[in-house]
Amino acid sequence: MIKVGVIGLGMMGLTHLDAYGKRGDVKVLAISDKLTDRLEGKTKAAGNVEGQAQGGFDFASVRKYIEGMELIRDPRIDLVDICLPTPMHLEFALAALAAGKHVMVEKPLCRTAADAQKLADAADNANGLSMVGMCMRFWPGWTWLKRAVAQQTYGKVLAAQFRRVCNHPGGGFYSNGELCGGGILDLHIHDTDFVQYLFGMPRSVYSAGYSKVTSEIDHVLTLYQYDDVPMVVAEGGWAMADGFGFSMHYAVNFERATAVFDFPAANPLMLYEPRKPPQPVELEGGMGYDHEIAYFLDCIREGRPPQTVTFRDAVSCLKIVEAESMSAKTGKAIALTTR
Ligand SMILES: NC(=O)c1ccc[n+]([C@@H]2O[C@H](COP(=O)([O-])OP(=O)(O)OC[C@H]3O[C@@H](n4cnc5c(N)ncnc54)[C@H](O)[C@@H]3O)[C@@H](O)[C@H]2O)c1
Repeated sequence: MIKVGVIGLGMMGLTHLDAYGKRGDVKVLAISDKLTDRLEGKTKAAGNVEGQAQGGFDFASVRKYIEGMELIRDPRIDLVDICLPTPMHLEFALAALAAGKHVMVEKPLCRTAADAQKLADAADNANGLSMVGMCMRFWPGWTWLKRAVAQQTYGKVLAAQFRRVCNHPGGGFYSNGELCGGGILDLHIHDTDFVQYLFGMPRSVYSAGYSKVTSEIDHVLTLYQYDDVPMVVAEGGWAMADGFGFSMHYAVNFERATAVFDFPAANPLMLYEPRKPPQPVELEGGMGYDHEIAYFLDCIREGRPPQTVTFRDAVSCLKIVEAESMSAKTGKAIALTTR
């Protein structure tokens, strides 16, 4: 039985608690939050995705720490799950690795690519295994896309377009660009990561964007330039008007089919092929959060480092996001080097 401690009980901490609660091979032994209402389970943060952070977790049965570093010092904990505000990830993940724990860190891995590099280097020399919560790599419908692209099921990709937009979530952390990095770092990063997951490091990025709520870029549109894929574009941000809600979308045009994913929609993934009626693609249940945590627990049990997503992937993803931000601010295309 893997024994887990979760630090930070906002929307993501509760989402992770839900995911652990669905597994029989894991026990949450301890939780931590500075806010006693959250620690007692009295407040519930709302998520973007229906069904997220339901809060069915039994708060009475666990050890509670006001300070996350104390949880890291608890010798009974095997896996420390860090759902703290982004700038705190580095310090807490380093401490957990130094204490010999396995470490799960929410995305973005760190506030900057340079910090993420430090963490990736430390993880390479640690006894525990590490994983970052790049949940789209595990999301039903997106795992389908990864397979279709890798196996060229419908031929090569001619064009791939991603869109992830919402109204601003509010709150002190998400309103402070220094802390959260703006919509580009906190939300759009999911699509940046998926673009690199599918196609690797782009040759360059060319972005337009603007700030609306924070001092950083809150809404961005990026053209990722590749030698072998004609058109890859992603738009993301949290600059929509209040009440807009959340949507995520892709449209990928292959040589022999077009795949369109829309969330929310009754049939999120539709496949269009010549001489066939449009077909909804049947997807496995659950959310990316459940699948990523299940995958990491399997890796820990089997003693193998995660490969579907690594801290190195998180470093390169942050480098791309930083290039996108610079491109949006300067109006110039920014070249990227391979990892
Ligand atoms: N994967 C995703 O789809 C996704 C979605 C949303 C947020 N996130 C990421 O998850 C992270 C957390 O986001 P959130 O919305 O849950 O944040 P949040 O601000 O709601 O929650 C963070 C919690 O950490 C607590 N905290 C701060 N310092 C602490 C300390 N020293 N010890 C213990 N607790 C402490 C705070 O009191 C707060 O309750 C961020 O990095 C965010 O970018 C990921």
